[in-house]
Amino acid sequence: MKVSIVGTGYVGLVTGVCLADTGNHVVGLDVDAEKVERLSAGHCPIFEPGLEELITANLRAGRLRFTTDPAEAIRHGEVLFLAIGTPPLPDGKPNLAYLEQAADSIAELADGPKVAVIKSTVPVGTGEKMEKRIAAKCKHAVPFVSNPEFLKEGTAVDDFQRPDRVVIGAEDAAAAEVIRELHLPFVRNQAPIIVCRRAAAELIKYAANTALAMRISYINAIANLCDRFGIDVNDVRAGLMTDARIGRRFLYPGPGYGGSCFPKDVQALAHTFQEAGVDASLIEAVHQVNVRQRRLLFDRLRTRFDGALRGKRVAVWGIAFKPQTDDIREAPALTLIELLLEAGAEVHAHDPEALENLRTQYGDRVHYHEVAYEALDGADALVLVTEWNEFRSPNFEEMRRRLRQPIIFDGRNVYASETMARHGFECHYIGRPSVIPKA
Ligand SMILES: NC(=O)c1ccc[n+]([C@@H]2O[C@H](COP(=O)([O-])OP(=O)(O)OC[C@H]3O[C@@H](n4cnc5c(N)ncnc54)[C@H](O)[C@@H]3O)[C@@H](O)[C@H]2O)c1
Repeated sequence: MKVSIVGTGYVGLVTGVCLADTGNHVVGLDVDAEKVERLSAGHCPIFEPGLEELITANLRAGRLRFTTDPAEAIRHGEVLFLAIGTPPLPDGKPNLAYLEQAADSIAELADGPKVAVIKSTVPVGTGEKMEKRIAAKCKHAVPFVSNPEFLKEGTAVDDFQRPDRVVIGAEDAAAAEVIRELHLPFVRNQAPIIVCRRAAAELIKYAANTALAMRISYINAIANLCDRFGIDVNDVRAGLMTDARIGRRFLYPGPGYGGSCFPKDVQALAHTFQEAGVDASLIEAVHQVNVRQRRLLFDRLRTRFDGALRGKRVAVWGIAFKPQTDDIREAPALTLIELLLEAGAEVHAHDPEALENLRTQYGDRVHYHEVAYEALDGADALVLVTEWNEFRSPNFEEMRRRLRQPIIFDGRNVYASETMARHGFECHYIGRPSVIPKA
């Protein structure tokens, strides 16, 4: 099938490349000329395991190309996937302006009937609005299908190729069938394809992300209570997660959720509730708990140093919003860094993949270290924010030698208390009793 992808970011690029890999002819359109140039040369502009290999292979096979020319992309595709960013506006509502621009280009440039597919996460009713917007300006039929994306950065290729489920929301049965067929190669493991009304599909995406965010905020709230009572949250988790009705996933306390999806999607869903006149307090609480949680590591540091952070040197391990990605959008580490800088501390950062993105945002306000241990030299404390594998079993002796004070704030509860005590560290956790060396 001839497919075009409008927007070649995390979602669009993975979608386009995986569809090319199953034999479709794919054109990726983006407004970012530098990105298109890099992609056309076979370079992946983001860190996403396995993606660059697939880009190169499919470029070479002639099934994939990239362009900045809307006419070329829109004329090529029988199916047009819209995977454009929908970042939050200051009031938390998603900004649909970029999507509207793309819809207007389709209306102007379509040279025949097309099926448009919204991959972006959009509020209930957006598909209907876009379809009407195009119908008012275009003589060709362009039914809009909602096909929300559930991939996770860091395992995006695998998630796309082996989804838990595919959701197709459509008001037009023929358009739904086209999109179902495109996905058949990815559900040979019998993962369900859920075909439903378009508005239901739009809501599924927000409901799913908010359910996951809610589990994170819930365990963070429990962890904060544990701190108050001196209870180890891991004991509580052991009792919770072994209940088959609750399950094991997304119950890890930490410095709050981040990334380009959860914070924005929870707020957008709260707006949908409010606009519909339905009580939004549960959803609002998920967000509020997270806003407070993102300050927690900073507040702990400030308390530990009696409010005197000016001139203190703080090492930060892990900047990306989670391991295996270079994405720092809404990363909890940024809240910490911002507050540390405001308090006059010196920040020494290390991340295996996200340093370049951090540098773009912070310039010379932060010190960057390609080698994790070098960030520790002369530091008054280390804060572990993102649990990359390489931080899990580090050389504790070397860490002690390099740190000026052997103080760790373990924002992911990865270091065992006994290990910390054995190596003479003072270690503070989230929802677990601190380790304080005997004087
Ligand atoms: N990142 C994720 O893990 C993820 C997962 C599921 C769903 N989503 C949703 O998918 C959507 C895209 O997210 P993303 O993370 O891929 O965004 P992104 O910012 O990485 O990519 C968006 C791309 O669209 C391009 N673009 C903007 N306007 C354009 C236009 N008019 N024509 C062509 N290209 C244009 C941008 O240059 C950019 O490359 C969002 O709605 C997001 O919520 C994201």
